[in-house]
Amino acid sequence: MVNTLNPLHVDLAGKKYSNPHYFQIQHRITSLINNYLTIEKLNHRLEDLPLQFENPRSGPWKKIDWSSINREQVISINLEVFLSILVGAIDTEAPIRDYTQTSRQYLEKIHPQMARFVGGFTNEDGNIQEVGLWEKEERQHTPALIKVYSQLKGEKITVKLRTVRGYIPTDDPHEDLYRHGLHRVATEYGAACLYLWLMAHTTGALQDVFEQLLIDEINHMTKFWGFGVWLFPDISFLNVGNILVKTRSQDYKCNSLLRTLKRMMEKLNWKSWTLTNKATLIFTFIYTMHRLMAWTNSLTPDYLQELLGKQQSLSILNP
Ligand SMILES: [Fe+2]
Ligand SMILES: [Fe+2]
Repeated sequence: MVNTLNPLHVDLAGKKYSNPHYFQIQHRITSLINNYLTIEKLNHRLEDLPLQFENPRSGPWKKIDWSSINREQVISINLEVFLSILVGAIDTEAPIRDYTQTSRQYLEKIHPQMARFVGGFTNEDGNIQEVGLWEKEERQHTPALIKVYSQLKGEKITVKLRTVRGYIPTDDPHEDLYRHGLHRVATEYGAACLYLWLMAHTTGALQDVFEQLLIDEINHMTKFWGFGVWLFPDISFLNVGNILVKTRSQDYKCNSLLRTLKRMMEKLNWKSWTLTNKATLIFTFIYTMHRLMAWTNSLTPDYLQELLGKQQSLSILNP
């Protein structure tokens, strides 16, 4: 489909409408999910994980015409709201180094290769010797969002760095990893849904930026989730729900998945969104989850073992 504002640019979300109503936006979202989240593509991202263990290589970014990004490329979102969504996304993305090092610590004892994938490795003094692939890809996101912000607003933004909840081990490294992993998957899933939704609300070079972010987030979400299903075979969406409401260890981490999403929405200035904006984002969350469930159900133990090897059954739900 040719975009009429910029004749050379193909709109990645299908048909473009100048003033779309709910169902037209929903149609763009559905078309994006059907394009970027096919079972084949998700399998392909997971099958890449053992290759990255062997030979870590980050994929190149597509060429983006940064200088052509402009306000006309925002569809159906109030500009001020759009800018506050960018600020929220920047806040969620940074500080990536702290995130990757926390995840590396949770993984180190259990799966050193995955630990290296997310956080590289450190020497005895704790200095980083090699940067993890996850970090290499993620650390491009904050600068990209900052560039978009300055291009649209005409002024620079200063990033306030938050303190990240670090590595807090208990005496059960498997359960620690399980809970931490859920939180990570939730963040990647939330980010993937947000960037997909933003792709449906943009066009031109602005849409290209969100496409690149979406591709990265889907890549990480798929790898983390598939790895989790392999490592914890008891995992299913039903018992993820179960563990989230369980109060077995009376700590704050119990509902980390919901907390993560709630926190993200607060950061994104959700209260100022139009009803259509809210409804289409909820639709994105639900339809993406639906696709992920279909994919998860297709991950047989044989397929996962062939991909990631045999592992001891780590039952988190029936210890
Ligand atoms: Fe990211
Ligand atoms: Fe991410």
